[in-house]
Amino acid sequence: MIAIVVHGGAGTIEPARHAAATAGCAAAARRGYARLAAGGAALDAVQAAVRALEDDPAFNAGVGAVLTRDGTVELDAAIMDGVDGRIGAIAAVPDLRRPIDLARAVLDDGEHVLLAGAAAWAFARRHGHAPAPPGTMVTARALARWRAQRIERAAEVGGGTVGAVAIDGAGRLAAATSTGGILGKRPGRVGDSPLPGCGTWADRGLAASATGPGEAIIRATLTRRLALAVEAGATPAAAAAALLDEMIATGGAAAGAGVIAVDRAGRIAATHRTPTMAFAAVRDDGRGAQAAAGTSTATAPLEAQLASAG
Ligand code: GLY
Repeated sequence: MIAIVVHGGAGTIEPARHAAATAGCAAAARRGYARLAAGGAALDAVQAAVRALEDDPAFNAGVGAVLTRDGTVELDAAIMDGVDGRIGAIAAVPDLRRPIDLARAVLDDGEHVLLAGAAAWAFARRHGHAPAPPGTMVTARALARWRAQRIERAAEVGGGTVGAVAIDGAGRLAAATSTGGILGKRPGRVGDSPLPGCGTWADRGLAASATGPGEAIIRATLTRRLALAVEAGATPAAAAAALLDEMIATGGAAAGAGVIAVDRAGRIAATHRTPTMAFAAVRDDGRGAQAAAGTSTATAPLEAQLASAG
């Protein structure tokens, strides 16, 4: 069994953007799957998939990230190895082109778990990163959305966060998540994506990546509780649905979020309580590769697509 699932964010994807979001997720899933099919590690596969999504300006990660209320770009990302619990994360780092690669450098370095803010650039430069030249990470769409908002307070406007989860041929699980956060956020705000057990989690039983309103996901410790529920016997899809419903019961419709997951049996989830979520997956359970992609609910849910393909 090898499998990779990616998401391109839960929220409201305008109909005109469905094709680009689906294509971007499908390309990223293929990129990660190629690593798995070549015998590579789940950790390398999720990094490759998220890097592809960061490079795609259609998503709120890397180039194309949403702007803070000051019109700046601050990135969050994390990557976690389910084998041994190693995690590397970065938060609120400005003008960083490849957040997931810096998170991986933090993981590989091993001294710390999470580096934050402009001060992280000293470490980043030592690992081959250079700040993006002014304005080069800001897409026309990100600028137009920021101008349209003219926000005094942080708006609950997100979407476009990216993530990946994978299981490799040795049964190892890994997860990665990357985001610009929420449009109009206060500079210095850190969301769920870089926080272990909130937006990103991997252990020996489950890997998960969340998307949606970071504050609600942090309060729910969504991905860690998902792993505990699966450890207790739930399927990833059932546990995800129950936890997402609980978030709405607690926090109202604004707490609607999404999550992708894969467990050690290769069972997957791509579940959301938002109008849409972009996703893609490729799985080989020994009968050849099956692929699925879409912007649920505009397309069949991921689980249904893979079931019909199998
Ligand atoms: N889930 C992305 C964020 O709120 O930062």
